[in-house]
Amino acid sequence: MAILDEELRRRAGIISGAIEELLPVVHPEELYSAGRHLVDAGGKRLRPCMLLLAAEAVGGDPKAVVPAAVSIELVHNFTLIHDDIMDNATTRRGRPAVHVKWDEAGAILAGDTLYSKAFEILTAVGGVDPKDMVASVKMLARTCASICEGQWLDMEFERREEVTEAEYLEMVEKKTAVLYGAAGWIGSRLVGGSDEEVEGLERFGRLVGIAFQIQDDVLDLTAPAEVLGKPRGGDLAEGKKTLIMIDAISKGVDVPIFAKKNASIEEIEAALETLRASGSIDYARKRAVRLVEEGKEALGVLADSEAKSLLMKLSDYMISRSY
Ligand code: IPE
Ligand code: IPE
Ligand code: MG
Ligand code: MG
Ligand code: MG
Repeated sequence: MAILDEELRRRAGIISGAIEELLPVVHPEELYSAGRHLVDAGGKRLRPCMLLLAAEAVGGDPKAVVPAAVSIELVHNFTLIHDDIMDNATTRRGRPAVHVKWDEAGAILAGDTLYSKAFEILTAVGGVDPKDMVASVKMLARTCASICEGQWLDMEFERREEVTEAEYLEMVEKKTAVLYGAAGWIGSRLVGGSDEEVEGLERFGRLVGIAFQIQDDVLDLTAPAEVLGKPRGGDLAEGKKTLIMIDAISKGVDVPIFAKKNASIEEIEAALETLRASGSIDYARKRAVRLVEEGKEALGVLADSEAKSLLMKLSDYMISRSY
């Protein structure tokens, strides 16, 4: 993990530096400050790192695609700002959520600004065959629509009694995994990867991206809020149909605080113990491991390289991370 840590840190630093340059705070400053509020708080930068590694893994120069990596990170931040409104979440990356620090109208606009800037910045990648650029813009647009579909399903499922595992997998593929898929696809397409490589990297991103969301659901229950930088137990309070809860519901397990606001930390701990005892946490973890294994198989189309091995390590990290 130490090598990965170092490699991720180096790439995250490149992304942060490029954001400073590509997304300056301009008039009206308050709007851009709201847009930069979470971006500047950091975050793991896993999606842009995946994009840079995808370019490298097909023999491209990752420096050439830095604006595309920034673009993917901005889309991610746009979805976080809007997601916190939808999920009634008050903190993110250890800071007040944008709609808390400003207001909902401000957060909607700050998110929309990042969303629009993401497309403009993507086109700043130079030296690309115009066909590949158009295809990449199209991929990003389709990805954003898919995220909206996934987020819609996520909220619709809150109101539903029963959600199947297949429905959950479709929802998380759309709300979360497609952006990892797009990182693999765009990073490799822009540097001239072959169709087979580009598709393999997209499939890899999508599969490990589903696993990533399962781990996010696990951490929502298990990780202290100070470590996570966002409220603990929020998924329970909101009545989210995570894979953990879907398994628990199918076993008839009673979680008294499910879909109830204002649970205490003791009640969240008790719910965690119940879900551990029912095997539901373990069930979700195992599903995530299988998805990562499948994802790694999709990298079979790539020649061996340092970048390929880092992508594999990154996928292990996505389900072993503690925040
Ligand atoms: C959180 O993503 C949102 C989800 C899709 C689950 P990350 O865990 O990658 O958030 P940051 O960027 O590191 O803050
Ligand atoms: C977020 O899923 C997915 C998107 C932002 C599109 P979550 O709602 O689980 O993310 P967190 O836990 O708030 O980061
Ligand atoms: Mg959400
Ligand atoms: Mg959320
Ligand atoms: Mg979550």
